[in-house]
Amino acid sequence: MEVKDFSWNSLAGRMLLVVFFSLVTLVGYFVFGLSFSGSPAETGRTLFDENCQSCHTFGGGEIVGPDLQGIFDRREREWVARFITSPDWMIAEGDPVAMELLIEFNGVEMPNQALAEADVELIMLFLESQDSLTQAVLELPRGSAGRGESLFTGDQLLEAGGTPCMACHTVGGIGEYGGGTLGPDLTRAYERYGEPGLTSVMQNISFPAMKYVYGGKNLSGQEIADLLAFFIEADTAGDEGMADQATGLFWMSGIGGAVVLFGFMALFWPRQSKNQIERLRIKAETASKGKL
Ligand code: HEC
Ligand code: HEC
Repeated sequence: MEVKDFSWNSLAGRMLLVVFFSLVTLVGYFVFGLSFSGSPAETGRTLFDENCQSCHTFGGGEIVGPDLQGIFDRREREWVARFITSPDWMIAEGDPVAMELLIEFNGVEMPNQALAEADVELIMLFLESQDSLTQAVLELPRGSAGRGESLFTGDQLLEAGGTPCMACHTVGGIGEYGGGTLGPDLTRAYERYGEPGLTSVMQNISFPAMKYVYGGKNLSGQEIADLLAFFIEADTAGDEGMADQATGLFWMSGIGGAVVLFGFMALFWPRQSKNQIERLRIKAETASKGKL
């Protein structure tokens, strides 16, 4: 077939058109269909469950952060969107409402989760469509502080294979010289978050750095109960006692090391230095004798 004979009305032309439009439909389906599977508010709910639920209820009272019921009555929509997008910036900027909230919530800062603008909008839509949202309260088995400590330090492995907390956190004087420093010191976690708050953040881990490590490796109810018991014990023992123990250990090993070092010096240095001085003197004497 010669190109100049081509006509969209020919059989070949129509077939080409059919193929072209099928392709457009397919591409359209993958680009738009997949990201909008489910209603926007539904997608917003999934995002909320993954990123916010551990700290906020909607009509269920305060846990780590404020109850979000009535949020749009007490704040401007734009403020809410900005706060969800970058709470850290709002606090750094000294936004008066953000500062007030920070004080009210024991200095616990809402983490910046680096959410895309579109995702924040979907969460906003979900919040606006919500009357009340109560999460089931997890019934915890009895916890053991001793087991909690083993889980924290990694002496006992987490069932789902998550990294032991001590890789990034320390509690009082745990371990000889404390644990990791990537995450905050958790000695006072119980005081700051309270029991429901601490349970909830362990149940639905949504701190960015932790989400990355614990994705799909949830803690079991027993593990949460054990860790909680351990945090309660650490908090009541007081960080001072425990931290003192750690600093005490640090000083003791320092002093111990110094004593051993001085002991060696006491044994060898005087004799050696005397010898050396002696040798120098003899050398000098013989040299001057030689000159005379
Ligand atoms: C680790 C806990 C935590 C997570 C996770 C969290 N928040 Fe917060 N949120 C807080 C705290 C605490 C405050 C109080 C302000 C402060 O201290 O930073 C707060 C405040 C807020 C406020 C302002 C409330 C008011 O009364 O003005 C909104 C809105 C909000 N959060 C929405 C969200 C949304 C949406 C998500 C999920 C994308 C989320 N938060 C995730 C802890 C959290
Ligand atoms: C990969 C390092 C890492 C591991 C492992 C880890 N965390 Fe965290 N955690 C962090 C970081 C970083 C933060 C600070 C919040 C953030 O991500 O922005 C944090 C915050 C927290 C907080 C809030 C503390 C505060 O003062 O606001 C709690 C509670 C917590 N982690 C508990 C745990 C528990 C329990 C475990 C073990 C099951 C654990 N973490 C394991 C890195 C880690």
